[in-house]
Amino acid sequence: MSSPATIRTVAIVGTTGNLGKLVTKAMLDTNRLSVTLISRSGSESTLPTDPSVKIKQGDYSSPAFLADAFAGIEAVVLCLHHTSVPDLEIKLIEGAAAAGVKWILPTEFGHDSGNEELTRVGILNAKKAGPRKKIEELAENYPKLRWIGIINNPWSDFAMKRNMFLIDAKNKTANLLSGGTAKFNTTMMSTTALAIARLLSLPVLANGGPALSDYGNKFVYISSFRVSQRDILDSVQGQLILTGLTHTDVQDFIDDGPAKLARGDMTAVLNLLMGSLMKGGLGGDYESKKGTRNAVLGLPKENLDETVKALLQ
Ligand SMILES: NC(=O)c1ccc[n+]([C@@H]2O[C@H](COP(=O)([O-])OP(=O)(O)OC[C@H]3O[C@@H](n4cnc5c(N)ncnc54)[C@H](OP(=O)(O)O)[C@@H]3O)[C@@H](O)[C@H]2O)c1
Repeated sequence: MSSPATIRTVAIVGTTGNLGKLVTKAMLDTNRLSVTLISRSGSESTLPTDPSVKIKQGDYSSPAFLADAFAGIEAVVLCLHHTSVPDLEIKLIEGAAAAGVKWILPTEFGHDSGNEELTRVGILNAKKAGPRKKIEELAENYPKLRWIGIINNPWSDFAMKRNMFLIDAKNKTANLLSGGTAKFNTTMMSTTALAIARLLSLPVLANGGPALSDYGNKFVYISSFRVSQRDILDSVQGQLILTGLTHTDVQDFIDDGPAKLARGDMTAVLNLLMGSLMKGGLGGDYESKKGTRNAVLGLPKENLDETVKALLQ
């Protein structure tokens, strides 16, 4: 019996970025995908030199460049810088659709865009709706075109290194929001990349098991940890003693966001994004309500203490 059809050709846009680098590696590690890396002309990023990848560098506003870059590609992963969402992303989506791409993973990779209240409070997700809508509109002319949104919440390692959980190991301080007991999901960047490679390795059509087509125009939820601020703090305190612990009401923390934004203080993003995540019941804990696709994608079980220890070294 022949094996079920799987995707063979993928392109990654934003391959030099935090996520893009790891997605590129995870794709190559499958040893079965033909990988094309797409980058902007004039980019100062250093592109991989791996001879097994194809590189297409050019002008994203040129339909001719996009037609060539996406020719023969079945799935595209858009790992774009946040300022490229939604306008530049939509140009890339139009080019990909016109070239016959069937599967697009738009630049999601954050909070649950499937949760309207969370999206309203957390602000950044609102601009991610346009690219998904564009893909659905284009599907009227390109009927096989679908999006799949990867939802991972904050990247655990990315957030830890930037004190985004409001735990500052270097200065040995922490700010607990309303006791810090609300659970939320968080995912390692490498696990996010692995999930993408595994998802695009599923059979396209159902054959008695999970299939890529199960997820067309849907969100795929993944998670390394379902934890609270307290849980992370306990893991950090297993490694070092914090000397400054403060407490803030989570709603006050969120409410500071719009005022900060109004005066151009971009730390407002932390208030709005992390506050909404750490406010119990708002959707930061998607695992409890919607489950995750960790098992389908064969994602590893991860240990918070070991992860925190490694990140603090
Ligand atoms: N869950 C989380 O904790 C978390 C954290 C950060 C971001 N995110 C999400 O993940 C996405 C990817 O984040 P990332 O940190 O991997 O992105 P990034 O490293 O900031 O940027 C990705 C790539 O975008 C291109 N780029 C950079 N500046 C650009 C500009 N001004 N205009 C157009 N392209 C530009 C570069 O590729 P080339 O130079 O090769 O063109 C860069 O390598 C974000 O948009 C956001 O949605 C999630």
